[in-house]
Parts: sequence; C-alpha cells; structure tokens
Amino acid sequence: MKGSFHPTNDLTLNLSGNESIHDVIDKVSSSRRTFIKGAASAPVLAMVGGVTLSGLVGTVQAACVDGTAVPIGFDNLPAALAPVPDAVRVAAGHTTKLLVAWGDPIMPGGLPFSGTASETAAQQSKQFGAHIDGMHYFGFVSRGVESSQRGLLVTNHEYTHEAVLHPDGQANYSIAKARKSQAAHGLAVVEVQNTSGNWGVVSSSAYGRRLTGNSPMRLSGPAAGHALMKSKQYDITATGSHEIGSNSGFDCFGTLNNCGHGVTPWGTYLSGEENWNGYFGSNGSLPASTTELGKLNNRYGLNASGFGYRWHTVDPRFDLAQNPLEPNHFGWVVELDPFDPYSVPVKRTALGRVKHEGAWTVLGPNNEVGVYMGDDERNEYIYKFVSAGRYNPTNRGANRTLLDNGVLYVAKFNADGTGTWLPLVPGSIGVDGVALRDNPNFAGIDDTEVLAKILIKTRMAADALGATMMDRPEWTAARPKGCGFDGIEVYCTLTNNNRRGSSATPTTNNPDGSTTAASARPAVDAANPRANNLYGHIIRWREDGKNVTSLTFTWDLFVQAGDTATSKTPAAQYTGNIVDAPNGSADYGAPDGIWFDKYGRLWVQTDQQGDASGDWTNIGANSMVCADPATGKTKRFLTGPLQCEVTGVVMTPDGKSMFLGIQHPGEEATNPANPTQFSNWPASQFATNSAGQTVVGGRPRSGVVVITKTNGGIVGS
Ligand code: FEO
Ligand code: CA
Ligand code: CA
Repeated sequence: MKGSFHPTNDLTLNLSGNESIHDVIDKVSSSRRTFIKGAASAPVLAMVGGVTLSGLVGTVQAACVDGTAVPIGFDNLPAALAPVPDAVRVAAGHTTKLLVAWGDPIMPGGLPFSGTASETAAQQSKQFGAHIDGMHYFGFVSRGVESSQRGLLVTNHEYTHEAVLHPDGQANYSIAKARKSQAAHGLAVVEVQNTSGNWGVVSSSAYGRRLTGNSPMRLSGPAAGHALMKSKQYDITATGSHEIGSNSGFDCFGTLNNCGHGVTPWGTYLSGEENWNGYFGSNGSLPASTTELGKLNNRYGLNASGFGYRWHTVDPRFDLAQNPLEPNHFGWVVELDPFDPYSVPVKRTALGRVKHEGAWTVLGPNNEVGVYMGDDERNEYIYKFVSAGRYNPTNRGANRTLLDNGVLYVAKFNADGTGTWLPLVPGSIGVDGVALRDNPNFAGIDDTEVLAKILIKTRMAADALGATMMDRPEWTAARPKGCGFDGIEVYCTLTNNNRRGSSATPTTNNPDGSTTAASARPAVDAANPRANNLYGHIIRWREDGKNVTSLTFTWDLFVQAGDTATSKTPAAQYTGNIVDAPNGSADYGAPDGIWFDKYGRLWVQTDQQGDASGDWTNIGANSMVCADPATGKTKRFLTGPLQCEVTGVVMTPDGKSMFLGIQHPGEEATNPANPTQFSNWPASQFATNSAGQTVVGGRPRSGVVVITKTNGGIVGS
C-alpha cells in the first residue's frame, strides 16, 4: 500500500479522466442556489456525462417541504427495559430490515462474511468496516432529481472490538492482526439500491470503496508541510512497515476513529477523527513532558500503552519511540468525494486538530461557509471554522479549497446567554495578556508558522484564549430554515461529564495548554449547569445577524436529558427536563448522534453504557428519540440491542427510507471463544437482510438498518 506523493492538495485526483463532482457542480444552474437556501421543490440539476451529482445539500440547510413541517406523528415507543432484547425495536407502523453489516462485501472482489472472523486484512479491506458511526446518503441524480432509490451510503467505521475481530482475539499478536484491525477502520462508500421495496448493497459497484487506516491521503491547509508534520515515511505492506525516508508533511496514510461526520454543499463527505491517540504506543521512551512534543502529546492523551490495540508493537509507524511525529497526521477533519472512486481524501488542517466529532457545514445568506465542530473529551471545546471564500455553485476552484483558507474559532459561552467566537489566529490575545504569536508554544519564524502551530495544537491555543470547557461536545446539527425559522441555529450534544462540579476546589486549563482538560474538575457554569452530568444535555446557539460569519451569538439549553424516576439524590440534578407526555415516557441520556431531517425534526441518538441497569434501569437500552426544536416535545422512536450504541442516521430525499447505524452490540464480550456472550445481533433478529440474503451470525456485527413506514409514508410521520 505504498502511497503516491502528490505535490498539490486538491481534493480530487481523478485518474479516470472522467469529470469529477466539481466539474459537474460547475455546470449546475443557479437553481441549485435556490435549493440550498431552502426552496420548496426539488432542484433542477443536470446529469452530466456519466457522472451524477447528489442533491445532498437538502440536508445541509433545507426547508420544510412546501412550508409545512412533517409532524412527529408516531406513538412513543416504550423504553427497552431489562432484559433488553437482542433486537432493534421501532415505533409502531414502521418496518426495520438489515441493510449491511460488518464484513459484508461492498466492492468487486469482496467475500461474504465468514462468521468466524477468518478474513485476512486484504479481505476485510473489501468488506464493510467495523463499528459504524456517522453516515450520509448521497442519491444519484437522474433527470434533475436526487434519487431516493439508488445512491451512495458513506459510513464512518470508528473502531474495532479486538476480541470479536479475530478468531482468537489478540493472542499471538502479529502484523497480520494489526493490518486487519487497520483495515476494519476508516470509511466506506457503499452503493445501495432499492429494488421493488427491498434495499440492497450493489456489491459489484465501481463506486464501492474502503478508506482504511493505511489508505493514502493528503494534508492540506495552513499546517500541511510544517516541520511537525514531517514524520517518517513507510512502505506499508502486509508484512510490515518499512521506513523509506521522511514524509513531506503533505501526504499521510490512513484515517482512524472516524466518529461524527458532516456533508458539504459541494457534494463531499466530512469525517471527524476522534480518539486517534489510542492507536499509538511506545516501545521505548517518550518525549519529556517539558519538550514541545511532550506537551503536545500530553494535551492529546498520548502515552506508552495507548488503548491496548498493540499496533505499535508490530508496526513502527505507530511506535512513538520510532516515529514520534506520526500522531500529528491524525485528529483532523477528512474530506472525501464519494462520487469519484479515484479521489484521494484530504485532511483539512484549517479546521483544527482535536478529537473531532461532528463537522456540520452551514451556509450564510450570501453563501458564506461555516463548519461547526465539537471536540469530544471531558472539558473540551466547541469550534467553528469560517471559510475565507464563499460557496460558488458555478466556480470549480472556489469550492475545491474552501476548507483550506479561513479562520478557526472557539466558543466562549457567557452566563448571560450571550457568547463569543474567539479567533485562533496569531494576533489573538490570551487570558494571560500574551498574543498567541508571542506564546512560546506557538512561536514561529512568521505568522504562517505560528498559524500552523496553532492548528496542530488547537486545544492548547483554545486553552490560551479562555474558551468554555464543555461536557464532552459530540455531534453538531443545524436547524433547517423554513416553517417560520430563518436564522442560523446550531445544536451540539454534550454527552456527559463525571468531573463537572466534582471538586470543592475547581480546576481549569492552564493558559499555556500544559494541562490535560480531561482530568480537570471545573465548576458548574451556565452552559454546563449540572454537577456529575451523568445524562448530558443539548446546547444550541443562534448566530447574531443570522450569518455564519458572526463573532457573537446567543445560546440556551435545548434540553437536559435525564431520568424522571431517578432514585439518585438530589433528584433535581438527574431528572432533566425532557418535554414528553406523560412525563418520563421518552427519557434518555448521553445524547451523542444528532441530526435534523429536512422537515425540521431533530433526531437524537444515545451512547450510554450499562443499559437497563444501574443509572439506566428506568431509561433502558440506548435509543433514538425525535424532538421538535420549537417546543422541545420528544418521543422515543427506536431502541437498540444490548450493549450497543445507536449512531448515524439519514433519510432518502423523499423521507421514505431511513438508514440507521447500530454500533458495537454485545461490546462487553472479552472472551474470543465466546463472542456472542451478550449479543448475536443482527443474526439474532434477522434471518435474511433486506435483499433476501442469509444473515451470517457467529459474532455480533455493527450494521445499518433501513426503516420504512409500513404504509409507505415519510418515516416518523
Ligand atoms: Fe465516538 Fe464521541 O463518540
Ligand atoms: Ca459519537
Ligand atoms: Ca460515542
């Protein structure tokens, strides 16, 4: 898998000579702009040559169809209390089928799932990856309409369950096992088609693709090429990683721990690299904590043992003692053009380096481009990138580099309900009165280098500016315009924080970024008001001036999740304020995935551990609820199998098919000899998938279900 080096950082390298999606965008009429701003009817988009263009912008900032919001029309689904069934349950009037699961073939040459995890790394790299997370459906366009019957499902594959991934777990650990683990990570592009009401994977598709932990990628933007990015270069083979010199800082290999996601108006998929630090370890010494690299590593949680993946024991690329700069290639937002199977994914350094979750793109009234992002760790921050350019539906070059030039901001939430976006630029003055360019952590020969360091050390720069420490920012979602709403309102899930308010002497981040925020014990504040925030909350903000470029905003808490019937004390700390009827009927906690459909309904997915027991006895299994942003009224729509996380949701443009992810069912199985100790989902629920093929069990498999309304209507109506 030795990579080819390319001096430029364009998104698309199309060896086919076909038109890329950018070429197609160039040819789209101005009617597309109207659609992006929330037109009621479908856009008139041309199909050009053999390449199709998605109308995906409908989910970026769409309007209510015909000016009328689709109601949350289903009956509330009761909680999945103990014993939690090993099945997806969904509100009455809907049908659930399995679309695709870990190990299913998604591209030519892919083998059917073995059921025994006997696949090699090479075979895994042509199969659906492990642990689905964020996803998006890009419908093909035909005669000017985005298809709700055929498209590309792009999915994140966050991490692996090593006891289930290999027949004997990590016993006799080898490079072959590391390669398979790496191959199960990353992204997938899956062509899906609805044939007579049954969705299936087009496993022979030329679009079918896996981007893994070893795939060639590029680095672009202000940090690309900086000395801190010039790690060692390896020839990556099945048998080892062989050093062949040093890296240019413009190229890299692989994307890891892809968690939340986003889409852009120009037809690309964004993927956030979250807990990438855990893949690294050290077979030798680590940089001293007083050195530049030592401080950086500490701030991002790198250490000698990592999360136990053991890659570093067999693959020197992940050994901090041998290749100390490699971590700097991770922690970015990756942009992928799914319609060009030859495109090389690009890591957009202008969007900052954190533990990325959602990266939701929003357009301003004149096509200004903003991207809203969360950094998921305790006491980390919320960010916004504002492009220096504007989205231009008729100019190829403008869109290609929109995410390379601009300003990254971090949020400060004031107690009075106002907020400020603090720019992470060389001239910004820290809380210690020192400009970032004069702070030794970001010192450079000029502001170009200072900016590169600010972005590589994003968390430290945010510390310096005094950003607000949040209760684990996960996904972001923007409320669609229409139905009486015309502003820019962004929501962010704050999933939990067991250190909030847990010390009589609260701690904060040091302005020089030398502390690890995750260990801090901040006091409660207005934006994070609960001590021991077990059940999490959702914050939202409205940009002043109704533009993504605004430097100020107003905010409130959309909801505090909780358990109405809690036995914990003081109860008010845990009950939450979910608006449901009867009170408590739609309780949930640990909100994580969040997504607005184009009808203006907010879907919230949960990621709690210990479902239906302990603190989750009354809430039950993980779930997805649907909420009205105007009233907060909430109903439970779906519950997942045991020990899963419900993650990733999207609908076809007609609203009649919903794709939804189930991640890590049965995650507590630690004995490779008994992988189905807790779950054998999806085989436990489905004998066949939606295309009628036998579902192979033998071990729990993350996967995607497709949900339709039994009467053929819009899902959830
Ligand atoms: Fe991968 Fe923050 O959840
Ligand atoms: Ca998440
Ligand atoms: Ca999560």
